[in-house]
Amino acid sequence: MQKEVQKLNKQYKDIETTEFIKRFLNEYKGKISFSSSFGAEDQVLTDLLVTTKKSISIFTLDTGRLPYETYDLMHKVNEKYKINVDVYFPKNVNVQSLYKDQGINGFYDSVQNRKECCFVRKIEPLRRALEGVQIWITGLRAQQSVTRKDLELFEWDDGLKIIKLNPLIAWSEEEIWAYIRKNKLDYNKLHDEGFPSIGCAPCTRAVEAGEDVRSGRWWWEEPEHKECGLHIKDKT
Ligand code: ADX
Ligand code: SF4
Repeated sequence: MQKEVQKLNKQYKDIETTEFIKRFLNEYKGKISFSSSFGAEDQVLTDLLVTTKKSISIFTLDTGRLPYETYDLMHKVNEKYKINVDVYFPKNVNVQSLYKDQGINGFYDSVQNRKECCFVRKIEPLRRALEGVQIWITGLRAQQSVTRKDLELFEWDDGLKIIKLNPLIAWSEEEIWAYIRKNKLDYNKLHDEGFPSIGCAPCTRAVEAGEDVRSGRWWWEEPEHKECGLHIKDKT
């Protein structure tokens, strides 16, 4: 599969993003699915993808701990594009046993607890969401963190056995916001309150101007641990 990924990276090298999305969605014959967390990058991608191909599959992982503002935006996206983003929830038996094991906010107590919570609330639902999918589109950008700087347009995810496609990999934060403003896209209101990166409410906080964009995620952990496991290849 690494070979196929290398081939794809070569085939679509240096093509402008809008043009690339048009070409790829037309040319690729397997099943493609985009995961949105309704962050700024995902809003740009939703716009680019839906305006290119209305029937594109889009899903989100509702961990049960998302901020109110994210649900508000989810509703707006469905209304604006007249789509129904698929929602994957954690299994209730898993959440119940997680609660029994570590309490309601056990993720603050250890990296292991935090990873277990992310597994139950994100990874297991992600695996279900990606069943039968060949290409998983994400909003990852190389500049987002030390764990993402070497990522390419196409990546082989060996844990999930799937090809990941990161169309905005080379975009800067400024380019993301320029696109949002130019196209008057809705965005998560928390971005205006100092949250550049938004995940679950108890594990995300505002950052000071100039701080690393992901420093408000799992802020009590070291930078190299700051991946929930959705993006396994980045994990150190
Ligand atoms: S995370 O791994 O730290 O949570 P991040 O918030 O930076 O990831 O988002 C990177 C990409 O992962 C998003 O652009 C999106 O494709 C995917 N993603 C993250 N969280 C979710 C979610 N709750 N539902 C669907 N996709 C998500
Ligand atoms: Fe649990 Fe926090 Fe991970 Fe959300 S980000 S799944 S609340 S540990």
